Amino acid sequence: MSEAEYAANVVAAVKFAREQNERAKLTNIRWKVLSIPSTTYKCEQGYVESSGVVDLEVLDRMLSGRWELGKNEILDPKSIAMVCITHIPTNSGIINPVDEIGELIAEHNKQFANDESSLPKCYYLVDACQSAGQLKLDVQLMQCHALSATGRKYLRGPRGTGFLYVQRDIANALDPSHVDHASTPVKRLSHLDTLAISHSIDLTEKLEYKHQLGAARFEFWESNIGGKLGLGEAVDYAIEKIGIEVIEKKCCSLGKKMRSRLKQIPKVRLHHDISAKVEL
Ligand SMILES: Cc1ncc(COP(=O)(O)O)c(C=O)c1O
Repeated sequence: MSEAEYAANVVAAVKFAREQNERAKLTNIRWKVLSIPSTTYKCEQGYVESSGVVDLEVLDRMLSGRWELGKNEILDPKSIAMVCITHIPTNSGIINPVDEIGELIAEHNKQFANDESSLPKCYYLVDACQSAGQLKLDVQLMQCHALSATGRKYLRGPRGTGFLYVQRDIANALDPSHVDHASTPVKRLSHLDTLAISHSIDLTEKLEYKHQLGAARFEFWESNIGGKLGLGEAVDYAIEKIGIEVIEKKCCSLGKKMRSRLKQIPKVRLHHDISAKVEL
C-alpha cells in the first residue's frame, strides 16, 4: 500500500491478513501488508522528508524481485497479491502517479501470466475517493482492476453514496464480502418436491444461489434510492455542466495559490511541498 494510504484501507488490509494467517496456521503461507516507500526531498528547512508519492523505482524493484524485505530476505514478486494506491490522500495534496504504477503492474502481470487463468497475478486497486470530482479519472490509462470513489467529497453528491468500478471478468471471479437478495439471488431449492414437509432440510446441500454478474454482485438490496439519484445528478453536473478539466485546472491553481500564501506566514511549515510534485 502507498504510504499516503487512507488509514481505514490499511486497517481493512491488516484485518484480512491476520484472518488469513489465523486460518492458515498449518500452512507456511503468511500474508503481510507492506508499505511502498515514497520518494524523498529536501525541504526549505534542510530536512529530508518523505514526499508521500510512491517511489516508482522502488515499486519496480519490489515487483521484479530486487527488494530486500528483511535481513537476507528478498520480496518474492510472485507473492504480491495486490497493490493498493490512494490516488490523492486525505491529508495532503500529493497526487500518486496511478498511470505509471498501472504500467509497472501490467508489465509484472505479463511476466507472470499463465495459461490456466486469465486473472491477473497481482491486482491493482485505486482509491479515488479524494480525486473523483477533482481530476479526470481514466481506468483504461490507469490499467487498474478496481477503483472506488465516494460521492460526498469533490463530486458534491449526497453523503452515504459512492461507486465502485471493477473490470467485468474480475468482478465475476470475486466473492462479495456480503451477500443478500440483490447481490446473490437464490436460484432454487433443488429436489424440494421430493422432500417431506416434516424433514429438516440440509440447506448446505440443497440451496442453489448465484452471485449477479458484474458490479451488481457488490450491491445491496436495501439502498438509498434518493441518494443514488442525487449522485447521478452530481456526476452529470461535474462532467457536463462544468467539465472535469475546468474543475481540475481551477483546483490546481487554487492549491498553488494557497501554498504560496501559507509559506509567507512565519512559523508555518508546509509538508509535501511543491518540490515533491504537490499539485493540489
Ligand atoms: C482516500 C479516502 N478513501 C476513502 C475515504 C472514505 O470515504 P467515505 O467515508 O465517503 O466512504 C476517504 C474519506 O475521507 C478518503 O479520504
